[in-house]
Amino acid sequence: MRVCRCGPGGMVRAPVPPLLLLLLLPGLVARCRAEVAPPSLNISLDEAPEERWLPLTRVFDVDFLRRAAAQVIDTTVPKWVHQAVTPIVMALEKYVPQPYAGEIRGMASYFGGSLSDIIILNFAYEISAFCTSIIAQDKNGHVYHGRNLDYPHPVLRNLTVNVVFLKNGEVAYRGTSFAGYVGLWTGQSPNKFTVSGDQRGSEHWWNWWKNLISAFLFRRSPVSWLVRETLEEAENFQDAVMRLSKIPIITGVYYIVGGVRAGEGAVITRDRAGPADIWPLDPVNGGWYRVETNFDHWLPPPARDHRREAANKALNATGQDHINMETLYQVLSLYPVCNGITVYTTTMSAAGPEKYNTLVRPQGCQPN
Ligand SMILES: *[C@@H]1O[C@H](CO)[C@@H](O)[C@H](O)[C@H]1NC(C)=O
Ligand SMILES: *[C@@H]1O[C@H](CO)[C@@H](O)[C@H](O)[C@H]1NC(C)=O
Ligand SMILES: *[C@@H]1O[C@H](CO)[C@@H](O)[C@H](O)[C@H]1NC(C)=O
Repeated sequence: MRVCRCGPGGMVRAPVPPLLLLLLLPGLVARCRAEVAPPSLNISLDEAPEERWLPLTRVFDVDFLRRAAAQVIDTTVPKWVHQAVTPIVMALEKYVPQPYAGEIRGMASYFGGSLSDIIILNFAYEISAFCTSIIAQDKNGHVYHGRNLDYPHPVLRNLTVNVVFLKNGEVAYRGTSFAGYVGLWTGQSPNKFTVSGDQRGSEHWWNWWKNLISAFLFRRSPVSWLVRETLEEAENFQDAVMRLSKIPIITGVYYIVGGVRAGEGAVITRDRAGPADIWPLDPVNGGWYRVETNFDHWLPPPARDHRREAANKALNATGQDHINMETLYQVLSLYPVCNGITVYTTTMSAAGPEKYNTLVRPQGCQPN
């Protein structure tokens, strides 16, 4: 069963912004909120895809999962579209590649939900994920990676789960996801690299539909599946950047990647077919961090969206001397970098894989 406690307790912490930020950014510091660690699952890749997600049912209440899935679909996919696409999704089911086909079929069987709904659910999440990702390097060459995942659906806070993927009993990679979803938007390959994905541009449900067709018929990868495959297969940072840049995907996205050595950090701006731009860290010339929200970094963001500027300002105020996992978390806790629809914050560093940390924001963040 999912535990969601917001009082004092072992899983809860209320961050105190560093003095520096308090002094330099009056009014920008979000009010302290009780953040909650999500449940953690071990998924063994040695088990058949149909079986491996069974541990989900020990951590989440199946009735809750079923209701939550229905809620996400209802608010993301218009009812008539849902009805219209169901038979088509069933006809396309045979095109879903392994291991996802098996994993999705397994989920549908434990949830007692319809297979087409679990497929639709896995594509519904591909849209309207607004996010902020930051990659930064300290003076000693340590690389840190943080992300906020923003999504206008509060039920996702109760579906957030840390997943550790095991191979031969060893950690192959890990990530943060939502129960029922087989892709990853946030993940870490230990001592190799970290990845986060941020949506590029604003998508609509009619694109969601194109994405589904494109995925199944043209064998293009949903963006979150490519993250998972890269975590599973890439040898190192460079290999990861290569794969995340080149392999065709169903829609544009930003991939933010961090490595284990100084200089190993980049924001990849993706078109469907390949890279539109690669923006590496450039610490020698003052580029010790990169902030990516949901807009091309070489263009100004829309006037109403102040996340990028707020993050840049806070990172400047923190300084390369003081950046670390904790201060990066503080930057990701500032309004509006963290905002009313922020679901969770992850901080990670591939060279220190045990530091991987995700905290759910039960109420998001509000301005002071
Ligand atoms: C999430 O879980 C908590 C505690 O179980 C509950 O109070 C809250 O209403 C749930 N939120 C949603 C959106 O389901
Ligand atoms: C998950 O797997 C790791 C590594 O094998 C192990 O140390 C840990 O106890 C497991 N956790 C759970 C909840 O099974
Ligand atoms: C942050 O610092 C850089 C380098 O000094 C500067 O170019 C940029 O304008 C600053 N950004 C903000 C938002 O203060």
